[in-house]
Amino acid sequence: MSFDATHAVGEIAAQYPLATRVFHRRGIDYCCGGGIPLAEACKKEGVDVELVVSEIERELADSPANAQRWDDAKPAELIDHILTVYHVPLKEELPRLLQMAAKVHSVHGEKDPERLAELHKVVEWLATELEQHLVKEEEDLFPLILKGDKEKIRLPVDILESEHSAAGEALRRVRVLTDDFQVPAEACNTWRALWKGLEALEDSLHQHIHLENNILFPKAV
Ligand SMILES: [Fe+2]
Ligand SMILES: [Fe+2]
Repeated sequence: MSFDATHAVGEIAAQYPLATRVFHRRGIDYCCGGGIPLAEACKKEGVDVELVVSEIERELADSPANAQRWDDAKPAELIDHILTVYHVPLKEELPRLLQMAAKVHSVHGEKDPERLAELHKVVEWLATELEQHLVKEEEDLFPLILKGDKEKIRLPVDILESEHSAAGEALRRVRVLTDDFQVPAEACNTWRALWKGLEALEDSLHQHIHLENNILFPKAV
């Protein structure tokens, strides 16, 4: 293994995709905030860096097949992967999550009024923003990357990266509002499904943004 705690978190995630399991578990941001060294990221989250390194080593040793690496793929292949694995399912999932957040808020709002109202608002924001974000990537940026038009790429990349950071912030808020996705005892099926869906959204958006911020965009510019 050729990384240590001085390497950037996003770089480690690109080289060793299974490391993202550990980052996810330990709450270490490897997508929007992936530019800082692992040691600094661990300090920020109050986790022991040596423990994190040994957990990554274990993940890699336990899965000899390893996960697919994208840092040496061609941009066209990576774009294809991002569209199939992340964009298409996300477009289906966002309206479903929004519908559930609205339902839980309207039916159970009185059980936890402030949090359920805010959660509904945050999910609504995420659904609207991400839908527009995906269109910008699919119609503007990805075609420019495929054309290799480096000059025109810088500005849209800056905009899309700042949208990633805003989405990352919203996900952090979702985590707080859902108590780290712990389902309350009185929760109905929709409530449970919402919590589960939001947790899966967090995981998949982190992977998705990581592939764009740390691999695709740097390759393109
Ligand atoms: Fe995307
Ligand atoms: Fe994106």
